[in-house]
Formats: sequence, structure tokens, C-alpha cells
Amino acid sequence: MLPAQCDLSFSLQNVASRSNASHCHSSSLSSSRSTPRIRQHIVIQATKVLSLTTEQSKGSCLFWWLSAIKKDMPGVRGPSEYSQEPSRDPCLKVNAKASTSFFFAFAEPFNAEPPRSALVSSYVTPVHLFYKRNHGPIPIVHHIENYSVAVTGLIDNPTKLSIKDIRSLPKYNVTATLQVCAGNRRTAMSKVRNVRGVGWDVSAIGNAVWGGAKLADVLELLWIPKLTSSTVLGGRHVEFVSVDRCKEENGGPYKASIPLSQATNPDADVLLAYEMNGEILNRDHGFPLRVVVPGVIGARSVKWLDSINVLAEECQGFFMQKDYKMFPPSVNWDNINWSSRRPQMDFPVQSAICSLEDVQMVKPGKVSIKGYAVSGGGRGIERVDISMDGGKSWVEASRTQKPGKHYISEHSSSDKWAWVLFEATVDVSQSTEVIAKAVDSAANVQPENVESVWNLRGVLNTSWHRVLLRLGHSNL
Ligand code: MTE
Repeated sequence: MLPAQCDLSFSLQNVASRSNASHCHSSSLSSSRSTPRIRQHIVIQATKVLSLTTEQSKGSCLFWWLSAIKKDMPGVRGPSEYSQEPSRDPCLKVNAKASTSFFFAFAEPFNAEPPRSALVSSYVTPVHLFYKRNHGPIPIVHHIENYSVAVTGLIDNPTKLSIKDIRSLPKYNVTATLQVCAGNRRTAMSKVRNVRGVGWDVSAIGNAVWGGAKLADVLELLWIPKLTSSTVLGGRHVEFVSVDRCKEENGGPYKASIPLSQATNPDADVLLAYEMNGEILNRDHGFPLRVVVPGVIGARSVKWLDSINVLAEECQGFFMQKDYKMFPPSVNWDNINWSSRRPQMDFPVQSAICSLEDVQMVKPGKVSIKGYAVSGGGRGIERVDISMDGGKSWVEASRTQKPGKHYISEHSSSDKWAWVLFEATVDVSQSTEVIAKAVDSAANVQPENVESVWNLRGVLNTSWHRVLLRLGHSNL
């Protein structure tokens, strides 16, 4: 208990002394009214802890001890087993290896996706239907008032921020599509050749309105100016460490990092989010606080945030170095060299038909084709093409984000981190294959065949999406 308390007083002392010199840096600070107030709060905290230390030296041991105990009660805890998982919507399709034994139900991390039709029912995916991707048991919040995020590493002023501190910063609502690690549509890739990983259909993706503080504002509060690519102490990456425990990290926490230049860029919209679709984040999605890195594979959007570390090198955790990398089809488990590839960050252009199953019975006549299209890095969707003859000819689908509002790729009125929903009506007179492919604003196009992007981990299957229409009794 005491060492943690001492650490805190040390870090806040740094902040207190640093704050006296803060006027030197004020030109780089935002005009946010709340920033000086939070800084003042942090300095007051520092002063309180320092005066406690003085009290202690005078012999007020009992007071110190009691307050240390209270402070040391965990705000959030990562359990080692699955007995306290939250309840979930029964229509989600569970993709983790299911245990057959009643006693060992939930012995695996909960991984599930909604039926594909749910994705095209609304532009913003309801929280209960949003896919869930976990690597361990869901953390439990015991004392939200004791929860804080430590900000440490190659910065002058390590400190701890409470949820109140983070909520006092300007709040942003960012509509962003998150997609599973990088394994959406892995099941289809595994049909070509075996791949390792949880099987996912096309619905390991969702679009939500994330509410929270910009990471760039949080870092600026700690005297790291906007648009910084290196701190004075040589920090170039921002690592996010969580509370949950994963077997891939040998029981340690899930973690990931992004470059400091992205973290401090307000236009990158990286959030420390405490809301999803206007509601407090729920446990599955990272309560009390998670990172949302728009335009980047979901694996970097760390949930249940415990600490933020500014590092010289990118995070050395399992999920950055030994997973979620894209290898060529020639690499197998005998010749793989993990360090030869970069961790996957931006996701490529992707689309999928969601109004029809892989094999769909239809009556002859008009059939509505609906789905989603999205690209990473903030690139918009320029076009979605539909073919009924194996790709010889194409018709263009309409694209929307908000109902009644015309979508224009890359326009200020469009949500640059979010998917578009597309729709086309086709005439069906015989059994046939329907294909969808999207083109993004940089003219990147989905590859024709899954074989050309096959990789042993089954990531980033962005090949043309194909469904088979069979004439017969329609169940649409
Ligand atoms: N953060 C923690 N702490 N633990 C995790 O297992 N999974 C990551 C990411 N952040 C994960 C995490 C992955 S792979 C994805 S795709 C997203 O969270 C899923 O977020 P969601 O469950 O809110 O949809």
C-alpha cells in the first residue's frame, strides 16, 4: 500500500513543481476553460499528499494508515475467471470455443457478433448488438471514486488522472466504426486454407458514437503539446495498458500503442471514451474508460484503461508484436518471423452484403441488396459496385450515412471515421451470385479473390463479398 502512495506523492510533487513553470508553455495550450482548473486540481492533490507526508513524519500514523487503506481499495479489478460476466443479448452469435460442460460455461473470453441483418437496420449500431471481442474475463469496477489512469514514461510529470479529471476536459462525440482485431470475415478465409484464430462472419464490425475526451487534450494537460512526435525525454509512442488479464500475456494485461504524433493530433480524434451511443460505456465495451483509435483495427482501442505510458519504442506486448500482423500467403508456422512485419494499424477498404445470407433463397423479381462499406485512416467511400455476372458488369449502389442527408466522401458533412450503408435493387430471374466491392477515396479497391490475401492468422479478408441467390421459396 505505502509504496503506491509514495509513488503518487512523488508524481504529484513533480506536477506541482512543474506547474510553477507552466506559464513558459502556455502558448501551446488550448483555449479550453477547464484545462487550468484541472491542472489546479492536480496541484491541490499534490499539495494534499505532500502535507500528509509531513503529518506522517509528525507521528499521525493512524490517519495516514486509514487513508492509505481507503485509497488502496482497487477502483477496477481484472478477475482471473469468468463467474461475473455481464449479461448479453441472446441473439449474438458466440464465436469463442464453447465449453460443453455446464460448470465450465464462460471458461473462454466472450467473443460474439450480431446477425448480419442487424447491421443494416441502423447507421449507428445499438450497443447490445455491437460485436464483443475479449481476451480475458471482463473487469469489475469496485470503487469508481478510486479509479484513476496513471500517465507515466518518458514525460517530465507523471501523474494520475481520475475519471472526474478526464470528464472535466472538453467532451467530443466521434462517430467511428470499430472492427474486430483484424479478423472480420476470417471464417471465409479459412475455407481456402486453414487459419488460426476465432472464426468471424461479416458482422464483427459496428458503428458507434463514442463520447469522451481527446487524448491530445489529456496529453496537453501534462505539458505535451499538440502535434508532438517526440517528447524531450525521447518518447515517441503512447502505450495503453488495461486492467484485464489475458493468457497470451501470461496473465498480464492487454496492451497496445500508437505513435505519439497520432495521439497528439486533435484531427486523429483518438478518444479516452466514457460513453457509447450517449450512454455510459457498459462493462463489455470498457467501463469505466477505454481508448478509441478511429480508422485503425479494433485491437488498438484498449478497453478498461489502467495506464498510459509514453515510450521510446512501440509497445512490446503480444498483440502488437506476435499477432495482428499481415503476412504474405507463403509464410507458414514453420518459417514465420514476427519481427519482419509491422503491427497492422489502419484497416483497408472493406464491404459486405448484410441483407442476404451466404446462400439465400429468393423469389424471381426485385431483390434489395444492402450492406456496409468502410475504409481506414479516415478515407471515405467513393463507390460501392454490385455485380450479378461474376464481375463482368457492375451497377453502382447508393450510399448513405445519416438518413435524408446526401453522403459525399471526404466532405465536412460526412463522418470520416464511419461506415456508409449501401443499397441497390437488382432483378433476379435465375439463381446467381451477387458480388459487392467498394472503392475508397484514395481509389483503393477490394481484391477480387480471398486466395490473394490469404494469411496464416486469417486477418484482413477484404476480398469481394459474394452471396449466392437461389430461386425458390424466399425467407426474406
Ligand atoms: N482491450 C482490452 N483491455 N482487452 C481486450 O481483449 N480487445 C481488443 C480491443 N481492446 C481487447 C481490448 C480488440 S481485438 C477489439 S476488436 C476491440 O477491443 C473490441 O471492442 P468491443 O468489444 O468494444 O467491440
